[in-house]
Amino acid sequence: MDNRCVGVFDSGLGGLTCVKEIMKLLPYESIVYFGDTGRVPYGTRSAETIIKYTESDIRFLKQFDPKLIIIACGTASSTALEYVKDRFDVNIMGVVAPSAAAASSLTENGKIGVIGTNGSINSGKYEQYLKSLNKDLQVYSKACPMFVPLVENGYLDSKVTYMIAQEYLAPLMDAGVDTIILGCTHYPLIKKVISDIVGQHVALIDPGKETALYARSTIDAHEVDPAGKEPEYKFYISDFVDNFSHTASMFLQKEISGNIEKINIENYMV
Ligand code: DGL
Repeated sequence: MDNRCVGVFDSGLGGLTCVKEIMKLLPYESIVYFGDTGRVPYGTRSAETIIKYTESDIRFLKQFDPKLIIIACGTASSTALEYVKDRFDVNIMGVVAPSAAAASSLTENGKIGVIGTNGSINSGKYEQYLKSLNKDLQVYSKACPMFVPLVENGYLDSKVTYMIAQEYLAPLMDAGVDTIILGCTHYPLIKKVISDIVGQHVALIDPGKETALYARSTIDAHEVDPAGKEPEYKFYISDFVDNFSHTASMFLQKEISGNIEKINIENYMV
């Protein structure tokens, strides 16, 4: 059995939606999480910058000797995974492939919507993966840049979130999609708003959940409690942000206060 931890990172707090699912599906795995709160958002940055940030995030997590690093960020997964995966001697996976696989097996009418940050949508990676699974799929992508700030500021089911979501989701509804990939790990927090607008007949793919499921099938995970030893959870961030513990607990649906350390991510840039 491999006792090493699983490393997870995101540009900020969104990746905690993936950590929540790992805790549920792999309850005996120790997790080290890094949220790049000092440099969030990644979604509005150039591919070059996203790759540099992703490399430094991996360098930081590699110190913990993880058996797997999960890029729990749609933006970094779609823009940087291909570039970084062979440049580090550690197993690295992202959220795009597991989400695409789930969507392609779930859709009945072959029409899939993808929503994400500008970075994710501009990369075309979700569409590319979906078409590689089934070239006949019709993919409708829509960047939703206002969703991340709304979620980070706690506007999870307010009127303004409904209004903006209505506008973003209209073209996907017009296209008649029956499945939507929430291509950003922040979006599961506004799943209810999205579902209220598109209707319950549209399946919503949660990237954190699909990625945790995929991770479970690929790593040498602890299936049973290893001799009563509790898993360790460590959380690192690159800046303290207002209300951090509160917002983080909202993402994780669990208290994490007192367990968070700030690091200088600039030390991991080359
Ligand atoms: N959680 C990130 C993602 O999945 C979005 C936040 C950002 O723009 O950095 O794309």
